[in-house]
Amino acid sequence: MSHSADLLPEAIRSRLEGEVFARRIYYLHAVDSTNRLAVELAKSGEAHGTLVIADHQTKGRGRYDRQWESPAGRSLLFSLILRPDASPGTVLPVTLAFSLSIAETLETALAHEVELKWPNDVLVGGRKICGILSESSSKIGRSVFVVVGIGINVNTTMDEFSPDIRAQTTSCYEVTQDAHNRTDLLGKVLGGLESTYDRFGREGFEGFVESYEDKLMILNKTVTFRRGGTLSVGLVTGLSKDGGLVIKKSDDTRVVLYDEEITLSG
Ligand code: BTN
Repeated sequence: MSHSADLLPEAIRSRLEGEVFARRIYYLHAVDSTNRLAVELAKSGEAHGTLVIADHQTKGRGRYDRQWESPAGRSLLFSLILRPDASPGTVLPVTLAFSLSIAETLETALAHEVELKWPNDVLVGGRKICGILSESSSKIGRSVFVVVGIGINVNTTMDEFSPDIRAQTTSCYEVTQDAHNRTDLLGKVLGGLESTYDRFGREGFEGFVESYEDKLMILNKTVTFRRGGTLSVGLVTGLSKDGGLVIKKSDDTRVVLYDEEITLSG
């Protein structure tokens, strides 16, 4: 397998727009999972803002214990170590704010509408272009670190995705029919994430709710979710101030989801 020089640390450093994220970079030609490695590094004290990035993952982690598929040399696969000075309740809203930031960066880069499916799927034309998986550790109710793992399908062509995910997946290349420079895109994504993180620190998630709802493709749609072993259906009415998904059920009761997987009904 050839080495993709475009993602080497010197190239990444030359494109950085912020001051904190990716000041320390671990680049791997191949790794099982950048999240797995970032968690290990965070446990051994690695600093806030450290970037772990790979050209290829052999066992990329997805949400709900799924695997994240990514052919070598085509994607952006990275994890950021964050050390937020806040409670573990920050993990969901920080991740939501990051999804919004990536959606906005991609919208500009692709000149195409980009939407969100709560909590962190970034979609174009209803197909997933980016997935985010946050993993955290806390001590006595205080969050010690959060690892935010981000996978963006950049130059992947449709035939490179396995047949079972093809219908739900897309890439920057598929959207614009042009190859994209991964390092340039990474610089923009990291710049957006750093300013989002700073703003989150000043304002909390409240300031992001409206923009997130504007991109929420399931807003005013009926969704199915499982809670306490029971399958329920309800209408998505928006987000709570702490990032929960607010659902109105047919009996007019209101539930707020934080962890549950949802699917669009019908
Ligand atoms: C999802 O299921 O939507 C989340 C996918 C997250 C994938 C990224 S790729 C980089 C980082 N390392 C991992 O093992 N997973 C995340």
